[in-house]
Amino acid sequence: MSKAITVTRSFLHWATSLRSLQWPLRTLVPILCASLMLACAAQVKQEGATATTTHAKSYRHHTVALLGATGMVGGYLVEAALQRGYTVRALARTPAKLARFGSRITIITGDARDPAVIRKLLQGSDAVVSALGPVKADGDASRFINTTVTRNVLEAMPAAGISLYIAVSGAAVVMPGDDRNLLGWGIRTLAQIGLHSALQDKQAEYALLADSDVNWTLVRCPLIDSKPFDSSPLISLKTPPAFRVRAGELAQFIMEQLDNRNFVRQGPFLGSR
Ligand SMILES: NC(=O)c1ccc[n+]([C@@H]2O[C@H](COP(=O)([O-])OP(=O)(O)OC[C@H]3O[C@@H](n4cnc5c(N)ncnc54)[C@H](OP(=O)(O)O)[C@@H]3O)[C@@H](O)[C@H]2O)c1
Repeated sequence: MSKAITVTRSFLHWATSLRSLQWPLRTLVPILCASLMLACAAQVKQEGATATTTHAKSYRHHTVALLGATGMVGGYLVEAALQRGYTVRALARTPAKLARFGSRITIITGDARDPAVIRKLLQGSDAVVSALGPVKADGDASRFINTTVTRNVLEAMPAAGISLYIAVSGAAVVMPGDDRNLLGWGIRTLAQIGLHSALQDKQAEYALLADSDVNWTLVRCPLIDSKPFDSSPLISLKTPPAFRVRAGELAQFIMEQLDNRNFVRQGPFLGSR
């Protein structure tokens, strides 16, 4: 029960920080939180949830074109890629944000909405990984940012000889084969109310990818905590297995997909234990 209370407090903190908080959110949040508390307290059975495979000891080398490297998840992705000895080509609007990585990564400076910048980023890479998302400072300019950037990436991939695109998405995005439990339903309903335009963008991004012929994976995440790897995350193709996932575990999972390719053209939900 204490876990349920912690989860509910976290959600309330997150929800009240949303700029778009309106009366429906204030009315429905307590009801939905009560549902989530029940789901946690009853330890809803997570059908289809499995653990990741064990970590490989050695890895085939990759050169990763990384979008969103300056963000919260992006930092974990850079670390995870470097730990495996991969070459990282990171896009940054503000390179100084990546100063801590020094010469260990190559920085391509520019805005992801510019197709020429994306073409430059992809040069010499063999996979694209994106943790790019809307930032408040961009205001309306960030509307449909993921769809815009994914369209640019899809256009640039053939000329760069890249067929693999892995991106961080949200647990509220719907895909064929979903079978949401109470937790999954609650997460989707909350996002529809509080993150409506971001959800529309992520759903449209999925539609673009589904229409393409590239090997994409959209990793559908609930709340992402800025915490390191602790244990292999739970994965499900049906419903979010937890209310939150640790960024370090998400990053390891994404790096594993570069070799495993277990979820090509699929949208696995991730959650932490
Ligand atoms: N955090 C969560 O709880 C959560 C939950 C589910 C899904 N997600 C999704 O996971 C992804 C990563 O989340 P996060 O929390 O790490 O986000 P974040 O910290 O806000 O990072 C967003 C990243 O996108 C970059 N970006 C935005 N617009 C750009 C543009 N026009 N050109 C170049 N770069 C641009 C930002 O660069 P600047 O530094 O230059 O602004 C930053 O690196 C997002 O897609 C988010 O929607 C997050």
